Amino acid sequence: MSENILVCVAWPYANGPIHHGQLGGAYLPADIFARYHRIRGNRVAMVSGSDTHGTPITVRADEEGRAPEDVVAEFHQSILDTWQGMGITFDTFTTTMTDNHRDVTHDLFTRLLQNDHLYKATQDLFYDAEARRFLPDRYIEGTCPHCDDPGARGDQCDACGRQLDAVDLVNPRSRATGATPELRSSEHYFLSLTDFEQPLTDWLAEDKEHWRAHVLNFTRGMLREGLQDRAITRDISWGVPVPLEGWDDKRIYVWFEAVIGYLSATVEWAQTRGEPGAWRDFWQSPDARIYNFIGKDNVPFHTIIWPAILLGAGGYNLPFDVPANQYITMSGSKASTSKRWAVWVNDYLTRYDPDPLRYALAAQMPETSDSDFSWGEFLRRNNDELVATWGNLVNRVLSLVNRHFDARVPEPGPLDRDATRLLDQAQSTLEQVGASIEAVHLRQGLRQAFALAQETNRYVDQTAPWQAVKEDREAAARSLYTALNVIAALRTALAPYLPFSCAALHTMLGGSGGLESLGWQMHALRPGAQLEKPTPLFRKLDPSIVEEEEARLGT
Ligand code: MF3
Ligand code: ZN
Repeated sequence: MSENILVCVAWPYANGPIHHGQLGGAYLPADIFARYHRIRGNRVAMVSGSDTHGTPITVRADEEGRAPEDVVAEFHQSILDTWQGMGITFDTFTTTMTDNHRDVTHDLFTRLLQNDHLYKATQDLFYDAEARRFLPDRYIEGTCPHCDDPGARGDQCDACGRQLDAVDLVNPRSRATGATPELRSSEHYFLSLTDFEQPLTDWLAEDKEHWRAHVLNFTRGMLREGLQDRAITRDISWGVPVPLEGWDDKRIYVWFEAVIGYLSATVEWAQTRGEPGAWRDFWQSPDARIYNFIGKDNVPFHTIIWPAILLGAGGYNLPFDVPANQYITMSGSKASTSKRWAVWVNDYLTRYDPDPLRYALAAQMPETSDSDFSWGEFLRRNNDELVATWGNLVNRVLSLVNRHFDARVPEPGPLDRDATRLLDQAQSTLEQVGASIEAVHLRQGLRQAFALAQETNRYVDQTAPWQAVKEDREAAARSLYTALNVIAALRTALAPYLPFSCAALHTMLGGSGGLESLGWQMHALRPGAQLEKPTPLFRKLDPSIVEEEEARLGT
């Protein structure tokens, strides 16, 4: 039976180009997952968009003396180019600046207000007298009240991962002027998170075995400590307006509306398809499963705040899973846009193909702990694994068939025990990879597929069809037929991970149409079927790239 799978991915701030850590942490895993479900024949929508509000945008705009719209336009395009180049297949990738997003945000705000989950209160907020403005949380720095880290921001402490209230910072300073900010009172709307302590605790008590331990523990820990109501409006001019009279000088807090983007983007997706009600198949149908692919710093917004908004508005499905990833460091240190310590994906794409980076990131996806990306490791993964194991297998088998069997699938005759065993293994590997991807154990799925490629290399070594073709043509035919069929299975098993090379391979195997139409199953290649002349799927890279690429870091 076909299922409705909604793949929601964290909305990247449109304030800079996408780097390898974001790609490997959220977008690539989401894409692998979505591609798998599409091949499986499920109804899939993968949605997100540029997060265009909030201080990350205005800080950059202020620094560069540009309008926020201008910063957003530049990086929204850059982000779209990254998806295109890396094969990240969003069904809808929009922005939080659309009229639709504003309307959906207003609708939820209004419903929360009607349901008594929002209230007005006066708050003492930091005001920078020198700059003559209220300071957003991110514009304030100080010492974390929980862990004493001196570099905490007003919204969050990166050292201990806790969300903060700026007024709780010890020794606060304004990041704009360095001045010690003073407190002034201001009226705001608050989301009554305390209303949701029990409902969220109940929800987390329901079947959550499939959740990652770090996500579940973090969320349960927050609930144990108790939730605090949070202001969802701000004294700023850049953002979604508050849908009430007399609130023109304030805006809705970026996190409150950005998470609503998952719903508004699905509404936009449905409208674009000309089926305006189709968003309900994901958000209201009981057969739907919603996944949120995010980095670990975003966990509380997706396991507490967003579910609370949905519960408070009423009538929506909650996330089925929030498979948050840990971080991907760069050559051992935290990736950083400001320190230029990362691989910018668009820049990468000017020199390399997308699949090797997809492979390297998927092979060490930070599902349970942080992982590291380095150019030395990239080179090794490309040359010793992608090229040596998988690329070589395809290349030598297809070349032999091309040379000795006129580029046609050989007629195998009766299959012997080794051939049958390997084909059975291909069948079970395809099922195992599928199960791993469904459980969002993507690293494991890739490992299972590569183990089969390795096993097939051993089979080809043992049966030595290049030798056999001279003495026992039927044995050579059997070996190549078997290896070809395992390769055909791996074309499907690896397609979510390596879509570009698998599409090329699909064509070489004589496949027509997209390989999605095959479904997630084996399709025996018919003896006599015509194959195309093979061309190598991957390039071996010269070790000199390591030094060359490392020299670009930090510059
Ligand atoms: N823009 C945020 C970040 O990059 C993520 C927003 S995810 C959303 O950390 F759910 F709020 F949209
Ligand atoms: Zn802290």
